Amino acid sequence: MSEDYNYKKLSNKLISWYEVNARDLPWRHHSDPYIIWISEIILQQTTIRQGLDYYNKFVAAYPNVHALADASEDQVLKLWEGLGYYSRARNLHYTAQHISRELDGVFPATYKDLLKLKGVGPYTAAAIASFAYNLAHVVVDGNVIRFVSRLFGITKAVDLKPTLDEIQTKASHLLSYQEPSVFNQAIMEIGATCCTYKNPNCKECPVANFCVAKKNNIISSIPLKSKKIVKKKRFFYFFHVVDQGGQTIIQKRTDSDIWKGLYQFPLQEVVSFDVSPNISFLDIDTQDYDVKKSKLFKQTLTHQYINAQFIIIQLPHSIDKVDQESYILTDNSKLKEYAWPKIIDLYFKDLSITLF
Ligand code: ADE
Repeated sequence: MSEDYNYKKLSNKLISWYEVNARDLPWRHHSDPYIIWISEIILQQTTIRQGLDYYNKFVAAYPNVHALADASEDQVLKLWEGLGYYSRARNLHYTAQHISRELDGVFPATYKDLLKLKGVGPYTAAAIASFAYNLAHVVVDGNVIRFVSRLFGITKAVDLKPTLDEIQTKASHLLSYQEPSVFNQAIMEIGATCCTYKNPNCKECPVANFCVAKKNNIISSIPLKSKKIVKKKRFFYFFHVVDQGGQTIIQKRTDSDIWKGLYQFPLQEVVSFDVSPNISFLDIDTQDYDVKKSKLFKQTLTHQYINAQFIIIQLPHSIDKVDQESYILTDNSKLKEYAWPKIIDLYFKDLSITLF
């Protein structure tokens, strides 16, 4: 039996399995590249369950590329709030404006042109090229990496370029040139639902008999990663200052750090919570104020552990203006309109129970 014949056989088995087992997901009923692009960018972040909510919100609010282009960045970030990786939302907005205004609303239709879009890498370009235009470019996401490396028994670290190249080559050999769109959905689906990271369901797998990892009993050690992510710990004091007129000081994050484009309370970052909070950087009269401290809040990001404590300061007077340019005075009733990092949202949820 030739190698080609084997690839073809595997590919056909995957497609037949998918035709019976595919989950009914809304973006699978579309071939509109805009809708596919939105779904793929959202799904890079999250589980299908959470992704579905965001997908529905996005396509309802912005049914086409012009609608997204005409939104403000703040509105887009507000809709993206809670998903994380906010640069993806900013790139989505930027690219929508580019397509709407510079490409006359016409979505690029080749893999090469898709790759030129900001925020579109090889995975997303292959997904759009195949799902929207049925072009033969294989998708290689985390699920595909796991499935292919187990199927072929690749025991080298999958976060190294040569291994990734090998996986890409194997996946391209498997790709069906007649049905690239269905094949790509199938290979992602089997990784997501059957060849899972923990407790894979090999009984359901249509290619289990061909799986080298299964044969050699090494499924749990594939995929191997060489680098362990070392997470940095950060400690934030957020000053939640409320004046007598019910106004609060907030600030937009503009630096190229986490949460760029989102809003926060004035922030003092310290090396640990052994350092006391010091509000003197905020040039306001804080004598005789009433201070409360929140409990500690934690959020784990891919590369960082964030610890936050909120210092709640109720001023007995009104503030008419804040001198520093970056601060904004806003009515408490408007706070919900801004996009906040999840850790501040958790604080808001807690605050509504304990204080108000
Ligand atoms: N994850 C990423 N893209 C997906 C898709 N198109 N269908 C299901 N899960 C996915």
